[in-house]
Amino acid sequence: MKFKEFGSTGMRVSQITLGTWGMGDVGWDHYDESTRVDAIRTAVDCGINLIDTAPAYNNGAAERVLGRALAQLGVRDKIFISTKCGHLFVDGKVYRRDGSRETVRRQCEESLRNLQTDHVDLMLIHWPDPNTPFEETMDTLNELKKEGKILHVGVSNFSIEQIEEAGKYGLIEAIQPQYSMVYTQQEELIRWAHSKGMACMTYGSLGGGILTGKIRQVREYDPTDSRNRFYKHFQEPLFSEAMKVVGVMDEISQAHNGVALSQIALNWSFQKEYVSTCIVGAQTKEKVLENCAAADWSLSDKEVARLDEAVRTYQAHTV
Ligand SMILES: NC(=O)c1ccc[n+]([C@@H]2O[C@H](COP(=O)([O-])OP(=O)(O)OC[C@H]3O[C@@H](n4cnc5c(N)ncnc54)[C@H](OP(=O)(O)O)[C@@H]3O)[C@@H](O)[C@H]2O)c1
Repeated sequence: MKFKEFGSTGMRVSQITLGTWGMGDVGWDHYDESTRVDAIRTAVDCGINLIDTAPAYNNGAAERVLGRALAQLGVRDKIFISTKCGHLFVDGKVYRRDGSRETVRRQCEESLRNLQTDHVDLMLIHWPDPNTPFEETMDTLNELKKEGKILHVGVSNFSIEQIEEAGKYGLIEAIQPQYSMVYTQQEELIRWAHSKGMACMTYGSLGGGILTGKIRQVREYDPTDSRNRFYKHFQEPLFSEAMKVVGVMDEISQAHNGVALSQIALNWSFQKEYVSTCIVGAQTKEKVLENCAAADWSLSDKEVARLDEAVRTYQAHTV
């Protein structure tokens, strides 16, 4: 496994962060708990030391799976946990933003219970809530920090302006934006955050799975599936353009004895100096092993340039 400093937090984190959105059982394939525990055990064995979750991932279900797994495996002290606040999944149907003091406090207490821990290493505001002043949310997080319930604060899905505003009320040490070869819209924000000393954990690092090359045709997904609404490149007109990026990845894979495409996607991101760690959702041991092998090799400068070119072409067709 490769590691990088995580901004100013003093944490040194693995190239891959294990993501648990799918483990909440929303719009993803379903696995039994022993398969998921096996994936988490494998991740820890491979050197992954950061696991990302959120109360919004099926109303705490993902946190509870993770909490049970960490307790069962006895590995809480080997990993950092990032979870989130200020975003609710209501009635198993709709997401709602709520950064109020009451909700942030309640969610933090519930997360600690779900995760079977006395602190979370990183607490992120999941989405900016336009109806609550950032001052209120940040004040609450500062209090939770003083109480030792959270160690560091970060934000997800915030713009530069929103980070600057929230940053007036407390230290923001990490960002969590979407970033991959099929989603580079946040690159300016990521570079800016890096210049300010913040850590960056990217989500959708495999483009929700499209950058594994295992999906080559447009498919129908369940109406609640994130590949219908959240990751727009699973549908046309983006899908065909994304397949051209995958085509370039295929050629690079051949030059590396047929290496898994997921590893190319993860190395492309991690080799950017401004990416600290790539979050990857994977719920089986086999996928975790395949992804972690990215750390065993690197893309050449020429290959990165080739992929960058493919990404620029993709972007030009998508903006
Ligand atoms: N802050 C936010 O707003 C936000 C938003 C989205 C995601 N996130 C975080 O980022 C994490 C990752 O994002 P994501 O899960 O949406 O997208 P992702 O990691 O880009 O893709 C996950 C998908 O790729 C599949 N996959 C993983 N490794 C694979 C492999 N080697 N071969 C084939 N398929 C593979 C997974 O399959 P299986 O699930 O079947 O194993 C899953 O369907 C989430 O779990 C969550 O922690 C945060």
